[in-house]
Amino acid sequence: MAAADSGYFLRAVERRGGSELRIKQCSAGDVGCVVWDAALVLAKYLETSGFYRDGLHAFTARNVVELGAGTGVVGLMASVLGAHVTVTDLEELQDLLNINISENKRLVTGSIQAKVLKWGETVKDLPHDPDYILMADCIYYEQSLEPLLRTMMELAGNKTCIICCYEERTMGNNPKIENRFFELLQTDFEIDEIPLDRQDEEYKSEDIHILHIKRKRH
Ligand SMILES: C[S@@+](CC[C@H](N)C(=O)[O-])C[C@H]1O[C@@H](n2cnc3c(N)ncnc32)[C@H](O)[C@@H]1O
Repeated sequence: MAAADSGYFLRAVERRGGSELRIKQCSAGDVGCVVWDAALVLAKYLETSGFYRDGLHAFTARNVVELGAGTGVVGLMASVLGAHVTVTDLEELQDLLNINISENKRLVTGSIQAKVLKWGETVKDLPHDPDYILMADCIYYEQSLEPLLRTMMELAGNKTCIICCYEERTMGNNPKIENRFFELLQTDFEIDEIPLDRQDEEYKSEDIHILHIKRKRH
């Protein structure tokens, strides 16, 4: 889609019901300023029938925290589906997150706010033991792996389901980074991979994985 105003270009994400999320991306900025494919796959997965029981979405009135939210598309989808969402990222992404929250306010049926959360730093003012933690394309550089895992440990309680979507990359250091992350993750968490036939029919790919992750009961 063409840029609406200078510095931003728009990504429209169609919803099953026909409405669309309108996500602003920055033409200049760091990796968080654009919508990554893993975010689209995760956002569309949240709309699939497996999340509904008796017409009610599993996110209705649930607490959800998104890590490394970037543009906020995944958290926005969760809030449109009825969740009370806190999208988190570094300080420099807060303006973009707030712009996208305000652009899509009319569709939100739960609630949504943006907060600063740097992985590995003490978690403040966030729901402890949220029902869901969402993460899209957050496994991509070595120095962040241990801090990210510390944040996941600090936030997640026994009932929390972490839904993690990542793109498997074969270039450079990426395979090593992914292997290391899963090696560390398995100490404290159980991992369940969602097969492609339970994902959105259109927004899925062999190299993009969706995982449900829960704390092990030691
Ligand atoms: C590849 S982008 C993915 C953005 C978004 N989830 C998506 O898939 O479109 C990774 C995100 O993680 C955030 N991030 C990276 N390091 C972080 C850290 N140490 N603490 C918090 N967020 C971080 C970045 O700012 C960025 O928004």
